Amino acid sequence: MKDLEEQQTIDGRGTAPSPSPAVASSMVESTQHARGKDRVIPGFAWHDDYALGHQTMDETHHEFVACVHALLTTDDNNLENALEAFAEHAHRHFDDEDASMRETAYGSAGCHIDEHAAVLRSLDEVRVMLADGRTEVVRSFARALMDWFPEHVRVMDQGLARWLVQRQLGASPVVIRRRLHIAA
Ligand SMILES: [Fe+2]
Ligand SMILES: [Fe+2]
Repeated sequence: MKDLEEQQTIDGRGTAPSPSPAVASSMVESTQHARGKDRVIPGFAWHDDYALGHQTMDETHHEFVACVHALLTTDDNNLENALEAFAEHAHRHFDDEDASMRETAYGSAGCHIDEHAAVLRSLDEVRVMLADGRTEVVRSFARALMDWFPEHVRVMDQGLARWLVQRQLGASPVVIRRRLHIAA
């Protein structure tokens, strides 16, 4: 979360839901600041770096990417449906990971569970703002999620995946990624 803290920039409106407790309510603004409010939104695509070698978690993370992509790209008149789809996903996604950590007495559960909770608090704030017609807040939230997810996967979900696979199989997860093609 250090990078996010370093990006933190508050533009004075104070409306920014944040996935991270460390960045309080500034993540949406910081993302807008970093990327520019008039920037063309490209959507969000899966990257092999997100693969963890834990089938259930990887399937859930594919779904996360698809939900955020929809938040970024769907028409305004479908944005409420897309946000509710993301909400259903996020609660299931984070509840499953939280339960896995608690059931297995995972040692690094604390900050991981806190980060999930922060995303859900931000989601609730964004829902309220969308009810007021503030579609741009949903887009900013989606961009913030797109920035947040790779680091969360790399730092927190990867550790959990390793822990769960080691418990199940007594081995580290195997991740098969595409080979790099390097010119001779
Ligand atoms: Fe996850
Ligand atoms: Fe997680």
